[in-house]
Amino acid sequence: PPRPPWRPGDGRVVRLAASRPSPTTRTSGGTSMTPRSDLRSAPGSPFAGAEGTPSRPPEPAAAERLAFWAREAGNLDWETPWSQVLDWTDAPFARWFTGGRLNVAHNCVDRHVEAGHGDQVAFHWEGEPGDTRTITYADLKREVCKTANALLSLGLSTGDRVAIQLPMIPEAVFAMLACARLGLPHSVVFGGFSPAALRSRIEDAGARLLITSDGQYRRGRAEPLKANTDEATRHTPSVEHVLVVRRTGTEVPWTEGRDLWWHDLVDAQPDEHRPESFDAEHPLFILYTSGTTGKPKGILHTSGGYLTQVAYTHRTAFDLAPDTDVYWCTADIGWITGHSYIVYGPLANRATSVMYEGTPNTPHQGRHFEIIERFGVSVYYTAPTLIRTFMKWGEHIPARYDLSSIRVLGSVGEPINPEAWRWYRTHLGAERAPIVDTWWQTETGAVMIAPVPGAAPAKPGSAQQPVPGISAKVVDDQGAEVGRGERGYLVLDQPWPSMLRGVWGDDERYRETYWARFAHLGYYFAGDGARYDEDGDIWLLGRVDDVMNVSGHRISTAEVESALVSYPAVAEAAVVGASDTTTGQAIVAFVILRGGVVRSAGDVTAALREHVAREIGPIAKPRQIMVVPELPKTRSGKIMRRLLRDVAEKREVGDVTTLADSSVMDLINAGLADSR
Ligand code: WTA
Repeated sequence: PPRPPWRPGDGRVVRLAASRPSPTTRTSGGTSMTPRSDLRSAPGSPFAGAEGTPSRPPEPAAAERLAFWAREAGNLDWETPWSQVLDWTDAPFARWFTGGRLNVAHNCVDRHVEAGHGDQVAFHWEGEPGDTRTITYADLKREVCKTANALLSLGLSTGDRVAIQLPMIPEAVFAMLACARLGLPHSVVFGGFSPAALRSRIEDAGARLLITSDGQYRRGRAEPLKANTDEATRHTPSVEHVLVVRRTGTEVPWTEGRDLWWHDLVDAQPDEHRPESFDAEHPLFILYTSGTTGKPKGILHTSGGYLTQVAYTHRTAFDLAPDTDVYWCTADIGWITGHSYIVYGPLANRATSVMYEGTPNTPHQGRHFEIIERFGVSVYYTAPTLIRTFMKWGEHIPARYDLSSIRVLGSVGEPINPEAWRWYRTHLGAERAPIVDTWWQTETGAVMIAPVPGAAPAKPGSAQQPVPGISAKVVDDQGAEVGRGERGYLVLDQPWPSMLRGVWGDDERYRETYWARFAHLGYYFAGDGARYDEDGDIWLLGRVDDVMNVSGHRISTAEVESALVSYPAVAEAAVVGASDTTTGQAIVAFVILRGGVVRSAGDVTAALREHVAREIGPIAKPRQIMVVPELPKTRSGKIMRRLLRDVAEKREVGDVTTLADSSVMDLINAGLADSR
C-alpha cells in the first residue's frame, strides 16, 4: 500500500487504514461489562457455541479485522495463496493463512534483489573494536544462499532444529535466514547465557546443529564463547555438528569430525540456492523465555502470520520509508526484539539498518551517538534502561554529536517512565521526534500496543492504544473490562497473526499459562498489569506474576532461586525484583545458609553472585544478597515476596497478618540491621 501521506511531527492527525478503536467504541463495546458481541461471534471463536450461544456468522468488526490482516499479508510474496485467513477452530491453537505457502527468506531478501534493490544497503554493521562491514541486499542474498547450501551439505532437512549462539555479527543474520530458507526452525540463545542455559535449550529443542563463534567482544575484551558452548554440548547427544565463526581469533578447543569452521564450510559453497515454499504454519523459530517456574518456555512462532505482523508493525510503528530511512534497533538477536525488529520485520520491509556488536560505552560513552551521526540514523529503537543509563552519563555526551537525522524514537522492554521519556525526547529527539512506546512480548511476536507516530498525541509513559488490527483490554479478576481510571489485567481478546503457536513440546503449559486464567472468555492473559486513563488510553504497570524485568530482560524469580539453592552453602532462597533507577527492577535475593555458615556472609554472597552468573548468565546476577535466618511464609508455605520487596526497597513492611509466624519479619529486619 502507498505510504500514509503524512510525516510525524507535522501536526496532522490522519486516520490509518483500519481505524484504531476510539475511546467511544471502547465504551460501547466494553465498559458495559459484557463481552463485545463481535467477539462472541468471531469465526471459530472459542465463544462460538459456548454457554448455549449458537454460533453466528461473523459480525463486521471481526470480519473487518480479518480483511485488514489479509490486506497486510498481501504485501508479502506467496507461492500459493491462502484459502482461509484464520482458522481458530482448535483454539487456542491458531492457524493463520491456512493453505498459503511462502518462503520467509525469499520475502526478506530475494524479492528485493529481484525488484532491483540489490545495491541497497541492508546492514551497516559495526564491530565493537571499530571494524565495519557494509552488506547490501545482493550481498545478503549471496551469504544466505551459501549458508543454506552449507546447512544442506550437513544433511539437515526441513523441520530439523538449529541452535545459534552468536554475538551480534552478520553471520548471526545469515544463519537465521538460512534456517528460514530451508524450513529449519532456529533457536537463538543469547550470547551471555551460561553453558547450562544453552544446554537446556539445546536439549529441549533437540537441535542437530549448533552455530557459534570462537569468542565475542564484550566491553573491549575478547571473551571465549566456543569454550562455553563445548561445555554445553558435552551433554547434548542430539548435536551432530558445531559450526564455528572466527570472530576474535581466540584459541578454541576442537572436536575433529564434529566441529567445522564457517570460513571452511560456508565460504566454499555456491552462492545460489533456490528456495522452496513452506506452509504458512511451518515453524520458523523457537525462542526461550522465562516463565513463572524455573524451566524456560520454548515459545513457538510460525511463518506467514508472524512475517505479516512484524512487517506491518515495523512499517507503521516507525513510519518507515525504506528508500530514505536508516533504522537502528539496539537489541540483541538473542531476544525477540532482535528477531522481529532487527531481522524479520526490517528485512521484509527492505529497510536499511545499523547493526552494532558491542556495548554502548566501549570505548566511550558516546558510542551510540557517534554511530547515529556516522550513519545518519533516522529511526532509533532502544530500551528504557539504556535511556536511563544515558541520563546517568549526562546530557553533555549526546550534545557533542549531530543527531539531527533522528525523526522517530522507539522504546521497548518495560514501561518508560515519564522522566526518561522527556529526556529521550529532548536530548535525542530535539523536542520533535515522536516516541513510539511499543508494548509486546516474546509470545505476541510483534508490537501490539503503541502510539502510531503522527496519529497519536504525545503522552509520556503510556503505550496508549492497540495498533490497528489488534484488540486488547484491561479487565478485572472476572474478566470484565474495567472503567476509565481503573486498573486490572491486560488481556488480548482476539487472536492475532504473530501470536505464539504454543510452547515447544508442552501444549498443556501453553493452555495453562496463557489461556486458563480467563478460559470462560477465551482471553489471552499477558501477565501484565495495566490501567485505562481518563481518555481510555492504556498504561502498562509491570508484571503481575513472579517474572522480574531487569534491564528489559525477563527473568523468573524461580530460576534465580533454583540457581541459588544449587550452591552447597544455601539451604533456602527467595528472590524479588526491587525497583531500581537504572535497570527498572533489580534482583534482590534472601538466602538462608546451611547450619554453621550463618555469619561469614560477606564472602558467601560474593561467591553466590558469581555462582548465579555461571548458572544462568551475568544478567541474572543479584544486585544484592541478604543472609537471613528465616523467610516469611504463609500457612500454606508460600513465600510472601511482597514483604521481602518492602525490605529490599527499604519501606515499612506491609501487612503481615497472613504469615504463619508474624515475628519472622522482625527477625529478618533485626538480623539485617546488625549485619549492616
Ligand atoms: C514488558 C519484549 C511496558 C512487559 C518485547 C511484557 C513492557 C514483557 C513494554 C515482555 C512496554 C515490554 N511497556 N512493559 N513498552 N515492552 N514490556 O518477552 O512486562 O522480553 O510482558 O518481550 O516486557 O518481555 P519480552
